[in-house]
Amino acid sequence: MKTALVILAAGKGTRMNSDLPKVLHPLAGAPLLIHAMQAGASLAPEHTVVVAGHGAASVRKAAQAHDETALVAEQTDQFGTAHAAGQAAPLLKDFDGTVIVLFGDTPFVQPETLETMIAAQATHDVVVLGFEAADPGRYGRLVVEGETLERIVEFKDADAAERAITLCNSGVIACRSELLFDLIDAVDNKNAAEEYYLTDIVGIARSQGLSATVVTCDESETLGINSRTELAAAEAAFQARARAAAFEDGVTLPAPDTVHFAFDTVIGRDTVIEPNVVFGPGVTVESGATIRAFSHLEGCHVARGAVVGPYARLRPGAELSENVRVGNFVEIKNAQIGEGTKVNHLSYIGDATLGAQTNVGAGTITCNYDGVLKHRTEIGDNAFIGSNTMLVAPVSIGDRAMTGSGSVITSDVDADALAIARAPQVEKPGMATKLFDILKAKKAKLQRGS
Ligand code: UD1
Ligand code: CA
Repeated sequence: MKTALVILAAGKGTRMNSDLPKVLHPLAGAPLLIHAMQAGASLAPEHTVVVAGHGAASVRKAAQAHDETALVAEQTDQFGTAHAAGQAAPLLKDFDGTVIVLFGDTPFVQPETLETMIAAQATHDVVVLGFEAADPGRYGRLVVEGETLERIVEFKDADAAERAITLCNSGVIACRSELLFDLIDAVDNKNAAEEYYLTDIVGIARSQGLSATVVTCDESETLGINSRTELAAAEAAFQARARAAAFEDGVTLPAPDTVHFAFDTVIGRDTVIEPNVVFGPGVTVESGATIRAFSHLEGCHVARGAVVGPYARLRPGAELSENVRVGNFVEIKNAQIGEGTKVNHLSYIGDATLGAQTNVGAGTITCNYDGVLKHRTEIGDNAFIGSNTMLVAPVSIGDRAMTGSGSVITSDVDADALAIARAPQVEKPGMATKLFDILKAKKAKLQRGS
């Protein structure tokens, strides 16, 4: 069965009190919108249409950065969820299959739940995702008779008996494309909010003798974000699940509450993640690696047996091979580090390729930026970079080569060579004593004068 996703993301999100459109606020390192897109991605949709309104240009950019095939429909005025979903119609006019409507501010809907809805859609015209609410609050209520969903009533329009219903609308709806847009055309705005409610399509379908049903899920999946408080609660819920999943996957976290995961963090078995480690997006850590305390990783790959930190920073494009050691106050960006190589103290390695079994001394810096352009540094296998070497890129250091401590290396060093590039040392016998005497005399004169 072909599917298309329509993600409603035009609302302002007034309660966020923000210049950023609500759906672009990050959760676990990715905008809320991306979480909704990812939930639907497992259905391998033919089309994904994001309905944007407030901050449409930036919403479009974020959607297409994540999935360049994503389509964007603009809803200039927010007349309600039916009106929003209707904006997708022109983009889906040639599509024939099931449309799933999701909300961009509802990040936790599980792919399996959407699959259950698709399955139910084979035998029902309209399928709504519902949940039993602990506190039904202002959610729309699902009016069910027997197996049939008769209608959805919005809180504002509900009477006391309807408000007593605890089975609530999540907002997710599945329906055949042609039927969906026909039903949306029939929706009016004669209600308490004077909005075009998508939820009205259920009652309209029933009045036409069509069938409607409810698929239920856990309330945690339908959590919608409307405020910073809810965003923080959602982040906490995400992190709790990520930690539980890490334990299941055989990861040791001695202080789990202090480790922060991103939406796409991948961590192998028998890996130890020490306290206060932060994972930004795009990190893979292979089995048996150790990420020591207070390290920050983003867009990088750490191979088996590598040890990172404490206090290390791996930035996008850092590729650590097996058994690499990256120690304290070391920053690595866009650099491949060969097997067993050590960069243990106070270094910056950026735009570089390092071979295997090389030792990079404390304080080594790849000077990769000339103020305008970035340049690469290449270092071979089994090289020894002396402490406090400045490698002025572009520059390459051959296999088994050495640089003297404190060198400023501006030209290539051949394999097996030693390069020393610093002022030669001069020694003046007895000079230190003379200098101290002169200085002490100066101080004494000053004190007499005052
Ligand atoms: C909606 C449902 C309600 C359900 C609840 C679940 C309707 C009429 N009501 O109510 O039954 O219990 O979600 O959270 O559908 N949006 C647009 N354009 C618009 C209006 C809304 O894109 O013109 C988007 C919003 O950005 C948001 C989503 O649609 O992502 C839901 O809109 P919202 O106004 O929050 O609906 P609720 O009142 O919460
Ligand atoms: Ca809402």
